[in-house]
Amino acid sequence: MKIFVTGGAGFIGGNFVYYMLKTHPDYDIVCLDALTYAGNLHTLSGALENPRFKFVKIDITDRDGIFGLFDTERPDIVVNFAAESHVDRSILSPEVFLKTNILGTQVLMDACREYGVKRFHQVSTDEVYGDLPLDRPDLLFTEATPIHTSSPYSASKASADLLVSAYCRTYGLPATISRCSNNYGPYHFPEKLIPLMIINILNGKPLPVYGDGKNVRDWLYVEDHCSAIDLIIHDGKVGEIYNIGGNNERSNLQIVELLISTLGKGEIKFVRDRAGHDLRYAIDSTKIKTQLGWTPRTDFENGIKKTVDWYLNNRSWWENIVSGEYINYYRRMYEDR
Ligand code: NAD
Ligand code: TYD
Repeated sequence: MKIFVTGGAGFIGGNFVYYMLKTHPDYDIVCLDALTYAGNLHTLSGALENPRFKFVKIDITDRDGIFGLFDTERPDIVVNFAAESHVDRSILSPEVFLKTNILGTQVLMDACREYGVKRFHQVSTDEVYGDLPLDRPDLLFTEATPIHTSSPYSASKASADLLVSAYCRTYGLPATISRCSNNYGPYHFPEKLIPLMIINILNGKPLPVYGDGKNVRDWLYVEDHCSAIDLIIHDGKVGEIYNIGGNNERSNLQIVELLISTLGKGEIKFVRDRAGHDLRYAIDSTKIKTQLGWTPRTDFENGIKKTVDWYLNNRSWWENIVSGEYINYYRRMYEDR
């Protein structure tokens, strides 16, 4: 079995590469990644020497390059993690989100059709459902919740989902889609809430909480997301959508306070809110639990402890990032905010 993992030099894709190498000792994994600002070969340093692993630097929108690679490698399964993934960046510059997230997905699916790939899996997000009110804890996103997007990021992911469903129905592409809640864990790029706060605490910088900090996200440890995708690509039904969630809702303020208490220091600074900021995400994972037998294994307290320890023990990984181009991004996003 040969699996193409696109976006494998990023946060979740990188964790998925390690998960699959460990869980399936007879599989070959080929990582396709353009190494954008969010891609990092250091993330894959523990896989590069493995004879069952190969890294190819390639942009998923490069149609000729992608077709050439499918022709030589002949994958059985393609799991598409490659994407522009940060809401704040999508507000600053939407165009690349449309290019990578929509057109890149189309190129991959065209190649899957041409080379008879047995399964194309699209890694999507709960953000395609829009948001839920803060005062209705009884409401959760199910697979039947209508798409209703807020940011250019979520609109691009929703567009890709619609295209995947269309390819499945019109061309018979054997595809599945998963929509997961917010992930956290090792190799998470420093621009996102949890790593940003850990790193700012360690660097003695203020902790920028958007608005009043009451927005809620449903957090899942990244390895539990990987195990769900592994189940879907093997046992999931073609044409189906599966929600994946941690059943673990926390306000941003609760998250930041937990990190302050875990690390023993840190000072919150409330800053201007994100435009169009989604209030609450909460996933109903009943379908994947009952139909595929998935269960998340890492509880939040343990997951946060493992994550904080990882950032403490892997300083060079993130120091490399935050001392480079990231400085300009941080200034642009947070200075005078
Ligand atoms: P990330 O930003 O950490 O990684 C994205 C990776 O894709 C990077 O390695 C980057 O180099 C690569 N990439 C970007 N554009 C590319 C292109 N044109 N061609 C090839 N490679 C390209 O993102 P992540 O947080 O790991 O998210 C992975 C996927 O999971 C995304 O599709 C995202 O929408 C989805 N998702 C993320 C979360 C989350 O909490 N992070 C939750 C649900 C779904
Ligand atoms: P983020 O990690 O960007 O994920 P998403 O927007 O895709 O859910 O943000 C998580 C939440 O944290 C979101 O409500 C925005 C908020 N947030 C802050 O308050 N401060 C920050 O510096 C960042 C990056 C996010």
